[in-house]
Amino acid sequence: MNFKSTLRLVIVIAFTASIQQLLYSQKTQSDDHCFNCHEVLDGRLKKPADLFKKDIHHQKGVTCAGCHGGISSEEDQDKAMDTLEGFIRVPKGRSINKVCAKCHKKQSDAFLKSFHGSDTKGKQPIIVNCIVCHGIHNIVPVKNKNSAVNGANIVKTCSKCHSNAQFMKKYNPGLNIDQFEKYKTSGHGKKVFSGDNKAANCASCHGNHDIKKVNDPNSKVYFSNVPETCNKCHGDSTYMKQYNIPTDQYTKYKGSIHGVALLEKGNMNAPNCTNCHGNHGASVPETKSISLICGSCHIQNSLLYEESPHKSAFSKEKKNDCVVCHGNHGISKPGDEMLGSGEKSVCIKCHVNNDKGFIAAVLMKNMIDSLLKEMESANHSIYLAESMGMDLSEAKFEWAEINEALMIARTGTHFGHTDKFVSSLKNGFKLTENAKVISEQAVNDFYKRRNWLAYSLIFSIIIFAALFLKLRKIEKMRNI
Ligand code: HEC
Ligand code: HEC
Ligand code: HEC
Ligand code: HEC
Ligand code: HEC
Ligand code: HEC
Ligand code: HEC
Ligand code: HEC
Ligand code: HEC
Ligand code: HEC
Ligand code: HEC
Repeated sequence: MNFKSTLRLVIVIAFTASIQQLLYSQKTQSDDHCFNCHEVLDGRLKKPADLFKKDIHHQKGVTCAGCHGGISSEEDQDKAMDTLEGFIRVPKGRSINKVCAKCHKKQSDAFLKSFHGSDTKGKQPIIVNCIVCHGIHNIVPVKNKNSAVNGANIVKTCSKCHSNAQFMKKYNPGLNIDQFEKYKTSGHGKKVFSGDNKAANCASCHGNHDIKKVNDPNSKVYFSNVPETCNKCHGDSTYMKQYNIPTDQYTKYKGSIHGVALLEKGNMNAPNCTNCHGNHGASVPETKSISLICGSCHIQNSLLYEESPHKSAFSKEKKNDCVVCHGNHGISKPGDEMLGSGEKSVCIKCHVNNDKGFIAAVLMKNMIDSLLKEMESANHSIYLAESMGMDLSEAKFEWAEINEALMIARTGTHFGHTDKFVSSLKNGFKLTENAKVISEQAVNDFYKRRNWLAYSLIFSIIIFAALFLKLRKIEKMRNI
């Protein structure tokens, strides 16, 4: 070897060394001989090392041996990959969770308690493991946009299984597989797929390691847990600042008739956020569909409203159906004061100056008020008669019907026009009158009965007196 070629070799070696130095500038990296050797191998033996350069584990000094076992400080292949030194070769399936659990116990414990982590299916192999979601050899911090568990990436991962009919059928043929299709159309999906990772992805609503069956009361999406889950973001004014939308939905909802019914009284027929917004397709309901959404539970109100003059008038002005009079998140118990022309009337917000709506509003309020007065007076008669010990089950039977007529009339206000309202209330008046007649009749009967009692008492006294006199007479005669 002449001087020139020796120099060339030295330069090449020095160059390669400095490149290597540049590439693996951290001390720990050059100490990881698993990495160093695999880096110069080929194909599937090299790929892990290439990927590993950007892996958070590599950067934090975790070596290949951290997961695979063996001795990373050994340059010799056989010594490094010695099974007696704990080298496990390539972990598979469930055993992968155990590898990660060595250092990530918290996540692993949560995962083993989750539906994905439980081995519920007997012979069926474990459904999911850590690397299905996190990837392998290229794990980056979860807040990094390129993380496999961030934004659109995790949505695609969940959907790879959950939108795969063939795959899901093996586990649960009854489970919906439309989450991804719906999610794409949602306000959340649109944002996430345009790169805004602050909007909800699958894991924001379901959790990550602790995903439970949706009907498990510990699930984040269990019916009565949904409002809190949505509120994590929607109630956080700092988090939501850039979007310029209100952040009071939960606060209002919690105090509303619906929120109290669901959260305090446990009434599972009352809506949570997703009954009005949808879950995977969550969006702000369109004006024209609001009456139908509310109508899925309040059928009569919706049917009447759909035929009322308000439906077409509100649609034209893009007003939100029921929301115009009831609000959305803070709906409170409605009352008669919403009619008429008083301070709390909703009608006079639009109807003034004796227009037809104004007249209708006043008529409805007045009629209800006078029926209530009639009912009070009938109720008094019933009370009176009952305190006299009379049997008033017949009048009380009417009472249930009166209440129903009143309820139908109140619902009838949704028709706008007064005819349905008036016909139901008229029935109410008739029934009230009836109840009153029955109870007054009972009072009369009571007096009649009392008079009769009085007469029969007097009659008996006379008989007694006569008998008494007669006895006295007989006694006197004996004494003689
Ligand atoms: C001097 C080179 C060298 C070193 C050092 C080395 N390996 Fe290897 N490794 C190889 C070669 C060559 C193979 C393929 C032959 C084999 O499977 O035994 C391999 C195979 C592997 C495999 C694949 C096994 C399989 O069954 O597919 C894993 C995993 C692995 N090494 C991990 C490690 C880890 C972890 C370390 C450090 C503790 C390490 N290697 C150190 C050269 C090396
Ligand atoms: C955070 C844990 C972890 C670290 C660190 C890690 N691996 Fe792996 N590696 C795994 C797991 C888990 C698998 C199995 C992947 C699978 O089942 O697809 C695997 C698979 C492999 C395979 C088999 C690939 C194949 O296609 O069959 C090789 C080779 C390998 N690792 C080498 C390495 C080398 C070399 C390093 C360091 C540069 C390394 N691993 C670092 C966890 C790790
Ligand atoms: C179903 C998908 C999924 C599975 C399976 C999964 N993870 Fe995660 N993991 C996530 C998501 C999503 C995040 C991000 C949470 C966030 O953005 O705050 C995460 C976050 C993490 C973090 C960061 C700290 C934290 O808790 O937020 C670690 C560490 C972690 N996972 C380890 C594991 C380990 C270990 C396993 C296996 C026992 C595992 N993961 C299984 C989805 C999953
Ligand atoms: C030998 C210990 C060790 C093992 C084994 C290990 N990790 Fe890690 N992991 C770490 C360390 C250390 C960090 C960096 C933590 C930090 O930055 O605070 C980390 C970070 C992570 C992060 C990023 C956390 C974040 O806050 O963004 C994820 C995700 C993760 N590991 C997943 C896994 C998975 C999946 C496995 C199994 C395939 C695994 N780890 C195996 C030690 C380990
Ligand atoms: C905005 C919150 C939210 C997001 C985002 C979300 N889900 Fe859901 N998910 C729910 C709620 C709430 C339920 C419960 C449905 C019910 O009981 O009516 C549910 C139910 C489910 C179910 C049970 C079957 C079903 O459809 O009822 C699966 C599986 C599921 N989600 C997977 C996913 C996947 C995969 C993604 C991402 C593509 C996702 N979810 C995104 C809230 C969400
Ligand atoms: C490797 C495939 C796979 C991945 C990835 C996966 N899942 Fe699953 N998931 C399943 C299977 C299989 C079931 C069990 C279905 C059954 O037996 O009812 C399931 C069950 C569920 C359930 C319970 C459904 C119910 O019956 O109430 C929810 C919720 C769920 N997954 C959400 C998610 C979310 C969110 C992600 C992503 C963060 C995800 N899954 C990732 C396969 C997967
Ligand atoms: C991870 C945080 C997060 C969670 C959890 C979340 N959201 Fe969102 N949501 C957002 C962000 C961010 C937006 C985007 C705001 C925008 O588009 O103006 C959004 C948008 C919406 C919109 C559309 C608003 C608009 O003006 O277009 C609705 C409706 C909505 N979310 C309802 C829900 C419901 C219902 C839940 C619970 C089932 C929920 N969200 C859970 C963050 C979240
Ligand atoms: C009874 C039905 C109903 C329920 C329950 C409900 N919403 Fe709404 N929400 C609506 C309607 C209707 C709108 C449209 C508001 C409008 O323009 O009048 C809306 C609007 C929104 C918006 C857009 C911003 C805004 O405030 O106008 C968000 C975000 C939202 N809701 C989130 C939620 C969350 C979170 C919950 C649960 C805590 C929830 N909603 C419960 C009916 C409902
Ligand atoms: C999932 C079914 C459901 C949906 C959707 C729903 N509600 Fe309700 N609503 C209920 C239940 C159940 C109650 C009874 C709560 C209670 O009294 O405890 C109720 C009560 C009410 C009340 C009070 C009734 C009374 O007699 O005191 C009003 C007003 C109301 N809802 C309006 C609406 C409006 C407006 C919408 C649409 C924006 C709507 N609801 C959507 C189920 C629903
Ligand atoms: C948000 C505005 C608004 C509110 C609130 C409102 N209305 Fe109307 N109303 C209208 C509009 C617009 C029309 C259709 C145009 C018209 O004929 O005046 C209408 C029509 C009517 C009509 C039919 C009038 C006709 O010409 O035949 C009646 C009756 C009526 N409303 C009654 C009521 C009652 C009762 C209330 C309260 C419970 C009420 N409205 C609340 C806007 C409103
Ligand atoms: C124009 C105003 C207005 C609109 C629009 C409206 N409501 Fe009402 N709603 C009222 C008034 C006023 C009352 C109270 C009547 C009473 O108690 O005398 C009421 C009462 C109710 C009640 C309790 C009485 C009953 O019927 O059980 C429910 C439930 C209700 N509304 C649901 C709805 C739904 C659902 C919609 C949309 C389809 C809607 N409302 C649209 C004004 C309105």
